[in-house]
Amino acid sequence: MEYSALLKMAALARGASYAPYSHFTVGAALLCTDGSVYTGANIENAALTPTVCAERVAIFKAVSEGKRSFKAIAVSGGKDREAPDAAVSPCGVCRQVMLEFCDVGNFDVIVAGATGEPTTYRLDTLIPLAFGPEKLV
Ligand code: THU
Repeated sequence: MEYSALLKMAALARGASYAPYSHFTVGAALLCTDGSVYTGANIENAALTPTVCAERVAIFKAVSEGKRSFKAIAVSGGKDREAPDAAVSPCGVCRQVMLEFCDVGNFDVIVAGATGEPTTYRLDTLIPLAFGPEKLV
């Protein structure tokens, strides 16, 4: 699948965001190695800390349906009702969750570039010196 199409799916998924506190809405689309795609949107909570990012919603949906092998995730977010912000890339917690399930050297994170075009980063550049599952097995 083209990463531009995956980014469009993330932008569509953003529409289901529940963000009444930050008014910052995010969508994500996770591409599995079998070609299937799982989407997610951020879900906030009045107690704030239970808030879950769009990326983790997409990953947990996929993992909870038995998927374990992933190729890429696209992220599209910004202030509510505004165009995607080029600077939105996954938070540290989401990067750690990706590390659990993804091959760091072979997993792409796609974000909206300055003019909305996809910009791709490999996960190992986003979480250097990571503490991953291989430390424990
Ligand atoms: N958020 C995401 O869903 N993904 C990101 O990559 C960055 C932040 C959400 C969490 C919270 O609901 C809102 O954006 C503001 O931080």
